[in-house]
Amino acid sequence: MTFYSEFLPNTRRASYSLASQVLFQVPVQLVAFHQLAFTTKEMKSSFLLLTALVGVVVATPTPRAACTSPVKLSGNPFQGRTLHANSRYAGEVNNAVAQITDSTLKAKAQKVASVGTFLWLDTIASISTFEKYLTETQCNEIFGVVIYDLPGRDCAAKASNGELAAGDVSTYQTKYIDPIVAIIKKHPEVAIAAIIEPDSLPNLVTNSGLATCQASASGYRQGVQYALKNLNLPNVAMYLDAGHGGWLGWDANLQPGAQELANAYKGAGSPASLRGFSTNVAGWNAWSKVPGEFENTSDGQYNKAQDENRYVNLFGAALASAGMPNHAIVDTGRNAVQGLRDAWGDWCNVDGAGFGVRPTTNTGNSLADAFVWVKPGGESDGTSDSSAQRYDSFCGLADAFKPSPEAGTWNEAFFEMLLKNAVPSF
Ligand code: BGC
Repeated sequence: MTFYSEFLPNTRRASYSLASQVLFQVPVQLVAFHQLAFTTKEMKSSFLLLTALVGVVVATPTPRAACTSPVKLSGNPFQGRTLHANSRYAGEVNNAVAQITDSTLKAKAQKVASVGTFLWLDTIASISTFEKYLTETQCNEIFGVVIYDLPGRDCAAKASNGELAAGDVSTYQTKYIDPIVAIIKKHPEVAIAAIIEPDSLPNLVTNSGLATCQASASGYRQGVQYALKNLNLPNVAMYLDAGHGGWLGWDANLQPGAQELANAYKGAGSPASLRGFSTNVAGWNAWSKVPGEFENTSDGQYNKAQDENRYVNLFGAALASAGMPNHAIVDTGRNAVQGLRDAWGDWCNVDGAGFGVRPTTNTGNSLADAFVWVKPGGESDGTSDSSAQRYDSFCGLADAFKPSPEAGTWNEAFFEMLLKNAVPSF
């Protein structure tokens, strides 16, 4: 099964051709027949050869025969397209499934492998696998990718500190963005949604007092502009990250936040492919909750964006005033359970969380293009090992799940918790 999973993230997906679905079932039927009917050595070996041949055919992804014309996105890029379930996440989930002994939970876990998620290009090295995943995408799908490798990354925290030193814009441009753009240009037939650099510009708005964010600021601005300019391709829809309601949703942050994003957009030459902004990436906020989780706290009166629905409306309006496109996508991957955080800013591996609403365009808000799963649920936000170089104290808080491995690595126990607490359930 793991062999299949690398190539066929979900063999039951309707988007694979009927031929491959039929072939996938053949070996099972032949094995049963084999056990009953074949007796001589010769017959057995020809059967084995046939099975091997069928196996080879099955393991080869269906060529995307009908999917040759270039995609030209306009309007909501998710409309009529399913977010692709990339085989990287499907592979992680399949490994998780193999570790689960409880049969009910195992069956539920298997279903997660077919949920669409974004692929994070979080290092230069990760680009080497990008094309393989990109070309799995079917014609009725959209591929989600996160651009995430700015110099001096994660300047206000430690858990996701990146590989490029603050200010090293030229490496970011030539070794990171340029190769990604080259791969995308080879595949104009694939629809792509790209989230640009989570947390980066929001950090410049609210954490400009930190020396690390000061050192990163100009590299972030140049890097983001370069990404926006070069990923401005007809088959790409870009969403520039805007944190979440508990970050730029404060009355005093809405306008400066929108201005920071709009400056990047305009500085990049107002790229036509920029569709708007992303919110709640790797976050925990509810889409709609009245009163909001932190609405009745002492400073709640200074933030009207108490859920992501309200944040999309408020920040969207601020962006429109600042002259930037303002459609949004919202990460609902891990926001099923509310009331878990001691403070709104607690971001690391929140204990008790559950998988949220599956990717859909059915958002009920015309500014919100889609709910999407951006953070691959099961991958850690940061290590709880206080002796690690990238240990961030948020990952040691009382409301953080422990033990947790390094950011981006799999945490089986956390995955199983998300699954058990999923709303809707699997
Ligand atoms: C990590 C990345 C990882 C991403 C998705 C981030 O917090 O820093 O390395 O790819 O999460 O799990």
